[in-house]
Amino acid sequence: MNPTTPFSGQTVDRVDGKLKVTGRALYAADHPVENLCHGYLIQSSIPRGTIAAMDVTEAQASPGVLAIFTPFNPLKLYTPLGQGEGAISGDFIPLLQNPEVHYFGQTIGLVVAESFEQARDAAALVKVNYQAQPAVIDVDAGLGQAYPPKSVNDLSATVSVFADGVSSIDAALGEAEVSVSGTYSNPIEHHNPMEPHATTAVWSENRLTIYDATQWVQGQQRNLAAVLDVDEADVRVICPFVGGAFGCKGSMWMHSPLTAAAARVLNRPVKTVLTRGQMFTAVGHRPIVRQTVTLGANRDGTLTAVKHEAVSSTSRVKLFVESAAHRTSLALYKAPNILVSHRVVPLDIAPGTFMRAPGVAPGMFALESAMDELAVKLGIDPVELRLRNYATVDPNKKLPWSSKHLDECYRVGAERFGWSDRHAEPATARDGDWLVGTGMATALYPAHRSKAEAKIRLQADGTASISSATHDLGTGMYTVLAIVASQSLGIPVDRIRPVLGDSALPLSPVAGGSQSTASVGPAVLSAAESAKKKLIAAAIAGQRSPLSGMKGDQVSFENGELRAGSKSIPFEQVLAALGRASIDGSGTASAGEEEHQYAFLSFGAQFCEVRVNEWTGEARVSRFTSVMDIGTVVSSKTARSQVIGGIVFGIGMGLLEATQMDPRSGWIANRNIAEYLVPTNADVPKIEVELLNFPDTVFNPLGARGIGEIGIAGVPSAIANAIFNATGKRVRDLPIRPESLLTEPGHPNLA
Ligand code: MOS
Repeated sequence: MNPTTPFSGQTVDRVDGKLKVTGRALYAADHPVENLCHGYLIQSSIPRGTIAAMDVTEAQASPGVLAIFTPFNPLKLYTPLGQGEGAISGDFIPLLQNPEVHYFGQTIGLVVAESFEQARDAAALVKVNYQAQPAVIDVDAGLGQAYPPKSVNDLSATVSVFADGVSSIDAALGEAEVSVSGTYSNPIEHHNPMEPHATTAVWSENRLTIYDATQWVQGQQRNLAAVLDVDEADVRVICPFVGGAFGCKGSMWMHSPLTAAAARVLNRPVKTVLTRGQMFTAVGHRPIVRQTVTLGANRDGTLTAVKHEAVSSTSRVKLFVESAAHRTSLALYKAPNILVSHRVVPLDIAPGTFMRAPGVAPGMFALESAMDELAVKLGIDPVELRLRNYATVDPNKKLPWSSKHLDECYRVGAERFGWSDRHAEPATARDGDWLVGTGMATALYPAHRSKAEAKIRLQADGTASISSATHDLGTGMYTVLAIVASQSLGIPVDRIRPVLGDSALPLSPVAGGSQSTASVGPAVLSAAESAKKKLIAAAIAGQRSPLSGMKGDQVSFENGELRAGSKSIPFEQVLAALGRASIDGSGTASAGEEEHQYAFLSFGAQFCEVRVNEWTGEARVSRFTSVMDIGTVVSSKTARSQVIGGIVFGIGMGLLEATQMDPRSGWIANRNIAEYLVPTNADVPKIEVELLNFPDTVFNPLGARGIGEIGIAGVPSAIANAIFNATGKRVRDLPIRPESLLTEPGHPNLA
């Protein structure tokens, strides 16, 4: 049915799987280093003010303590690079350079001791005297100071698209035959990867080697060089394995340069591992977002106006914009009039950052809930309503999409899920004490691609190594690139040796924005072509080569062999005959002219069944079907796992996850994963994932658009829509917990 490429749908076990399950994969805190000592962060316990004094006497005298760095005994740090400079800093300024406190949990010191426990215990003995100042923690209290950021994803804070003769979005909405309007919210959420952030810094001859938990070794390299004031060439960042990241390892956070600076001063390697609790203020979060969506439509369901206004929290000292409206309502439906706007509310809280499907995950909750409300109001099936507003060109850029099969996602998803059997009337299906409902939502995520390089080395033992400074965050990148190399060289995957996660390797962008396959994959293709050409040239030129003296066009590289006439010689034999251990090919790939001619987006449809207990208000997702149009599926197993993981994340966002901040002190009450609720196995039903696998070769030669984030998109709204269908109750605030569904606790008031 679908066109395929040689790269489509390979079913290969994770090539790094054995290393992981046998404990041989080294994460940032695992690298063995001699003479190591340990750092432990001291974090502020007030949200705003000045540190008047820090008494470190007792801490300094406690066993094993080597040094205590504070604003009164600082480590000199310089200004980090900005996002435009090709590296991202998550924190606001180098910390410890002055006694100001801008948020609860800000790093105000680093204790270094012989052991982790000694450093931790000493940190508890440091006495801090603050001169506190009033802080604004609560969004409602801060709303008066909300302002439009200078730019939102390179667009202005308000973007409008109007049909001829329409003067304003409100004029368009005023003329609509029907309209719905709702305000939707999500709380602060935290990434909580299994692997905590960790940094091990080793100096030798003024050169730094740092084992760091990061999504971007080369961004980290540039930023560390800037902050430590050393040459980039003298910093090497190593991170071969990442135990989950979801965006919180995409920027540089200050524990890394502090650790490196401490190691430099102490002339000893230092390792700092963050505790789970410290990660709630030291490495970012998804901001609070409040969105009001107003849809105007004709009675047949055709949208005439979409107004989507978002407000998100930001740290007062470090702007981060969770671009919920811009990334969703400007891209999804065909409506003649669209207005999106964004304002940020500056608060005295820690900096926010990218978290899986930044902007899109909250934005799709609002937009796709509003679409469900419209479907209910009009009595039109939710899938049908979406098809009636199907866009064939990007509504804002007015460019055609490179490849779009969202209609097929809806159709296949509805069929697989059994959508036609649903009870359209809310609160009419039950199973004993459980009210049963179904809901759906669209998924989308932009397709990104950045310049990347890769190297392939054909080796005399018949293997080929491929290298690039990208990462496998658990996403499957080792496997994806092994498949790409295997296919382009025509040799089995088990003879490919991928090497990733070292800043000394060829250029790679941040492993974020779901862009790694689309960026690095084509670079590997190009490197493979280069390696083949070089081998052919060497085989022709080499005097002892079996192909010596032949013409270039007589020789080809196929299935790992050089072929000429009736001869076919495996590449390792050619290398042996040439007396060479290896031959290298390099490749570069980046976007071209197509960038200005097409819009690039991935799509999907999410369908779920939810059961709500009428006595307890407990909502459980009981069935989930997801159909994704994400271009070429290079590695079937890991791609499916990415979507499943995104859906699990979406179940968390929909039903469980919320960071609880005390509005007076900024203190985070649930800084642990016992009380910050994430889905466990018992919360996750059978998830059916179908990947359409239409190669998007306009986007890149591999045809892949990336899959790391789209899985979460639409999931919270599909759940909320199913809960409405089950109970008749529309919940617009995440997470949807029993208290959202019981107006009188303990009473059966849902049906
Ligand atoms: Mo992803 S939030 O771009 O790491």
